[in-house]
Amino acid sequence: MILSIESSCDDSSIAITEIDTKALLFHRKISQESEHAKYGGVVPELASRLHAVDLPKLLEEAKPWLDDLKAVAVTNEPGLSVTLLEGVAMAQALSIAKGVPIIPVNHLKAHIYSLFIEREAIFPMLVLLISGGHTMVIDVESFERMEVVASTMDDSFGESFDKTAKMMGLGYPGGPIVERLAAKGDPTRFRMPVPLRHSPKIAFSYSGIKNAVRLLVESHSPLDERSRADIAAAFQKAAIEHLLQKCGKIFRERRPKDFAIVGGASANMAVREAFANLCGRFDATLHLADLRYCSDNAAMVGRYALDAYERQLFCDALTIRVSPRSEL
Ligand code: KG4
Ligand code: ZN
Repeated sequence: MILSIESSCDDSSIAITEIDTKALLFHRKISQESEHAKYGGVVPELASRLHAVDLPKLLEEAKPWLDDLKAVAVTNEPGLSVTLLEGVAMAQALSIAKGVPIIPVNHLKAHIYSLFIEREAIFPMLVLLISGGHTMVIDVESFERMEVVASTMDDSFGESFDKTAKMMGLGYPGGPIVERLAAKGDPTRFRMPVPLRHSPKIAFSYSGIKNAVRLLVESHSPLDERSRADIAAAFQKAAIEHLLQKCGKIFRERRPKDFAIVGGASANMAVREAFANLCGRFDATLHLADLRYCSDNAAMVGRYALDAYERQLFCDALTIRVSPRSEL
C-alpha cells in the first residue's frame, strides 16, 4: 500500500492505494471552504492550523492499512508553504515510525494523474490544467517528459471566478457560485472583452476580464439579482472563449489525438461542453477526471505515487523539501 497526503491549499486529504492492483482502498477529504468563506479567500495561517487538526483525524481512519505500508507520498510543491509543511511533517513522522521511504509529489502532476485513478495511464496527451493557482497547457509525453506549452501571464482561470464572486459580494470558492449564477443570466447584456483576442501569443491572461467585471460591478452598484447573473454570464462566456481561442490555436498546430482537462475548474459544465465541441471538430478524444477528483485530493497524489514507486523516486524524512513556487 501507499498512503498519500494532500495539504497544498485548503483541502486536507488522505488516501490508501494498493500497489499491485492500483485500487483506491480508502479516500477521505475534509474541505475547509466554509472556514475561509467569511474572508473571501484562503487565509494561509488558518488553513495550516486546520490541516493540523484534520489530517490526524483522517490518519486515524486510515489506521487499518498502516501495517502494510510500502511508502508515504505527499504533495511537496507547489502550494502554500505553511500548509504544504503540515502534510510533509505527517509524512516525515510516518516515514520514521514505519521505516518506509517518502515519495515527493508535484501538485500539477498529481492533477494530471487524477485522470488515471484506478486506470492505466494514457500517453501522450495534451492537458489543460485549470485551477485556483494555475492555467496551463501541458504536453504530457510520458511520466518523465511533461512540457508546458502555454501558461497564464497573470491571474489563473479559477482565481478569476473567485475574484468575480468576491467583487459581487458572493462567497468562496467562486467557481461553483459563478457557474450557477451564469446559468441564470443573459450573456449578451454586457460586452466583456476576450483577452489577447488579436494577439498571436499562445498564452493566457485573466487580469483584463477581472477589471471589466470590476467596472461593471461599480457602475451597476448596488447590484440586483438580474445584474449579478448577467455579469456572471458575460464573464464566464469570455473566460471560456479565451481558453477556446488559445487552445484552438494549439490544436491546429499539434493535432492532439487525446486531450484532457484537469484541476478544480474542470468541474465547470460550460467548460466541459465547450471543449467537447472543440475536440469533436478536431477528432480528438476528450478525457475528464471524475467530478470528485477534479478539486484537490489525495487519491490523485496516490495514483501519481504508484508510477513514482515503480521508478523508486524516493526521498526520506531528512531530505524532503517544500517548494511553494515550483512548477512542473
Ligand atoms: O485544483 P483546485 O481544487 O485547487 C488548486 O490547485 O488551486 O482548484 C480550485 C479552483 C478555485 O479557484 C475554484 O473557484 C475553481 O477551482 N473551481 C471552479 C469550479 N469549481 C471549482 N471554477 C469554475 N467553475 C467551477 N464549477
Ligand atoms: Zn489543485
